[in-house]
Amino acid sequence: MSLYSVINAIFGSNESDPQLEKKWNLIGRENELICLPCRRVYSKRGNDYDVALYYVHGKFHAIDATCPHLGGPLDEIVDLEMLVTMERPHAMCPWHLYAYDLETGSSPQGLTVDVYETKLKEENLFILHRDELSLHPYETEV
Ligand code: FES
Repeated sequence: MSLYSVINAIFGSNESDPQLEKKWNLIGRENELICLPCRRVYSKRGNDYDVALYYVHGKFHAIDATCPHLGGPLDEIVDLEMLVTMERPHAMCPWHLYAYDLETGSSPQGLTVDVYETKLKEENLFILHRDELSLHPYETEV
């Protein structure tokens, strides 16, 4: 465990360990992923590092799945019609309705979430992230 991780564990910081290098994670087939406008992608490091994967206006967007306000889920859609009709789509937290721009991660309230690069290669979607990611939750110790 790095010093950074120890500090995060003690103070409850939500920041990622800068020592970890980002790598491209294969998430799945494009034609299967476009079936949902939003879903959670799980991080092997724990739920605090999960990603909300959006598919809006024919494009994938990946942002933190945890709202930096008080920890609400950003992989739940509050208003689908609003999401798909906004010129610049935003993820909206269902707890207090803070909205986060899917391109920049910023919100009018001054909070930001991390935005992760996505790419399609041979009809497979990849997300650039520090952690190992999966569409299925990782088993946790009980
Ligand atoms: S927890 Fe997300 S807006 Fe408050």
